[in-house]
Amino acid sequence: MSNIVWHDTTITKQNRRDKNKHHSAVFWFTGLSGSGKSTIANAAAKKLFDLQVQTYVLDGDNVRHGLNKDLGFSDEARKENIRRIGEVAKLFVDSGQLVFTAFISPFQEDRDTVRSLLEADEFVEVHVKCPIEECETRDPKGLYQKARKGEIPEFTGISSPYEEPVNPELILETDRFSIDECVEQLIDYMKKRNFL
Ligand code: ADX
Repeated sequence: MSNIVWHDTTITKQNRRDKNKHHSAVFWFTGLSGSGKSTIANAAAKKLFDLQVQTYVLDGDNVRHGLNKDLGFSDEARKENIRRIGEVAKLFVDSGQLVFTAFISPFQEDRDTVRSLLEADEFVEVHVKCPIEECETRDPKGLYQKARKGEIPEFTGISSPYEEPVNPELILETDRFSIDECVEQLIDYMKKRNFL
């Protein structure tokens, strides 16, 4: 980091929030593959987009096609995946947006590291909670079936761990509530805490 000096931006985060007329923050969705992270994130983003709210979805499967295409699924690779996304999400917060991240992010320590990059009112850990049996029944990408056959090593919940959030701000139970109900619970929370 020697010879590199931070340059303050002319337009500040607060300027952007004032213009947007809403707060900016990361809603960090964590949960098993097939739990509904991307589905809820996209449904919420659409609803808010229609209300003129600046949102963006960062999704594991998509980011792994580009920025993180060099990363696999070892514990170390997942850690680096989350570290990079944390930094990207922070840039989005600086740009005045409400960002929804949809990554399994199986390790509490890595999620806590992202939290520590941001201000207290800029990070919301959202546990998209669904029993693995239900995720496996859904199996939207056929990956659980492959993992059971041993065709995918280190598959989360089967041959790689998932650490449930210790103290998440919000839990969305996708086996008990519909997608629309989960989106409503999320948006209610956002209103209650004055993100909107
Ligand atoms: S994370 O663990 O590093 O946070 P991430 O959310 O980026 O994972 O990517 C998970 C997605 O990659 C899953 O939804 C699934 O489609 C795919 N995938 C491929 N291999 C694995 C694996 N071994 N474990 C979990 N997901 C995998």
